[in-house]
Amino acid sequence: MMKKVAIIGGGPGGYVAAIRAAQLGAEVTLIEKNHLGGTCLNVGCIPTKVLLHSAKLFKEMQNCKSAGITAQPVLDFEQVQTNKKAVVNGLVNGVKGLMTANKVKVLNGTASFADAHTIIVKRTDTTANEKITADKIIIAAGSIPAIPPIPGLTLPMCIDSTGALSLKKVPGSLLIIGGGVIGVEMATAYRAFGSQVTIIEMLPDILPMMDKELTGHLRRRLEADGILIHTNAKVLSVGEEKEQAAVHVELNGSESIFFADQVLVAIGRRADTANLALETAGIHSERGFIVVNDRMETTTPGIYAIGDCNGKSMLAHVASTQGEVAAENALGGNSLYDGRTNPSCVYTEPELASVGLTEEQAKEKGINYEVGLFPLKANGKALIMNGGEGMVKIIVDTKYREVLGMHIFGPRATDLIVEGALAIRLEATAEELISTIHAHPTVGEALHEAALAVEHRAIHVINR
Ligand code: FAD
Ligand code: NAI
Repeated sequence: MMKKVAIIGGGPGGYVAAIRAAQLGAEVTLIEKNHLGGTCLNVGCIPTKVLLHSAKLFKEMQNCKSAGITAQPVLDFEQVQTNKKAVVNGLVNGVKGLMTANKVKVLNGTASFADAHTIIVKRTDTTANEKITADKIIIAAGSIPAIPPIPGLTLPMCIDSTGALSLKKVPGSLLIIGGGVIGVEMATAYRAFGSQVTIIEMLPDILPMMDKELTGHLRRRLEADGILIHTNAKVLSVGEEKEQAAVHVELNGSESIFFADQVLVAIGRRADTANLALETAGIHSERGFIVVNDRMETTTPGIYAIGDCNGKSMLAHVASTQGEVAAENALGGNSLYDGRTNPSCVYTEPELASVGLTEEQAKEKGINYEVGLFPLKANGKALIMNGGEGMVKIIVDTKYREVLGMHIFGPRATDLIVEGALAIRLEATAEELISTIHAHPTVGEALHEAALAVEHRAIHVINR
């Protein structure tokens, strides 16, 4: 008998799980309350990168004199938004097509548990409720923006990332609460479009989970581009003065007021699980995040939870990887999620990308490690692309020389980081990166040089 699998949520976790379950012979029903593609395709990864792409082109065209081109670009923000919609629609329709091709039944509606094998779906298209029974259930309900209890955030000029992606015009000034990934990416885009941008971060550093040496370089780049960054800063309240937001911030022990046309709240996200009636099916959660093991199974056997809603790592590629793991286990397999090769990418200009341990984490774990550094000013391709701004850092363990972490700040960092992920997956040593031929001229050669630098034999810089 064909196994019935029900999936709640059609984001990169849910739709990938649906395809994998269908490949393995299941009869799959996917329930989505909003749009297929979830946060990532509709209001996350893809639309932000469309804005960042336009921002990069606009900035490059303003600064291309040294490359022999004089241009006077004019920003058409309405067209930026039109392009965004076209890219998003194309991808969402692609997912729809994949569902049909894989014979996945898609139901539009909001799901909640009646018991461990039964889901009630409040249909979006009719007033009727539908009851779905399934042998296995995969929860892929994703996340929504977290809003801190700061007075005044309900004012109309306060927006979340979804609001920031659908602005009708470029704000004259934008204050961003939170110097995390959304904060710095939105700051990069809107600064390039011409906004005065201020970031207020409560911790001592922006992007607190990334390697501090590299985030230091990124901070200097953002500040050189005119973005004001205040760290160790606490937003006390937001008020309204002359149609602007008046943001009261505790800074260096005293209170300062910042005025802005828009305030973007980007302080993290929370699981979208409040209305699932998880307890009805005996599923445990902590602060809304569903508790799972490495097989992605919840505390109720046969029910799995993947992606943002389990809070392990709120990234699209993690959701998809976990979707494959859950589908395989639901259909009798024994797959495990291994997060060691999970890259973190920040699409600033230049980009920042990281996989494995940072120096701070290696120290915390008491690991004896060594570092190889290579500055991109000694890399021909980076010199051509951005004047050689950036660096590569490789961390290896002292005894076996195994690659434990790779961190890149520079052009194409987010594409290049896959080499670090593969190195970690294969437990590669610095010597194995060295003996792999890297094409010339590419930014990738800097990875080779950083591996050489670990062994104190870099060719294009003086070894320390
Ligand atoms: P989601 O994509 O959130 O999908 C969950 C789906 O479930 C939604 O469509 C929702 O409508 C549906 N749903 C929820 N509850 C129910 C219910 N009860 N019944 C029916 N349907 C339900 N990640 C990256 O890796 N790279 C990036 O560049 C990146 N950029 C981002 C930029 C922004 C602005 C944001 C906000 C996020 C970004 N992310 C990025 C994170 C990424 O979007 C998420 O990690 C990813 O979408 C998580 O996938 P998911 O399938 O777990 O959840
Ligand atoms: P985040 O967790 O990346 O950053 C939130 C930041 O806000 C942190 O630096 C935190 O210290 C700070 N903060 C928290 N409370 C604050 C307060 N009251 N005042 C000031 N600062 C405060 O969360 P973010 O940026 O909202 O992104 C949400 C998720 O979306 C992330 O988990 C990320 O993984 C994902 N994402 C991924 C992207 C990518 O992969 N390129 C791009 C955008 C988002």
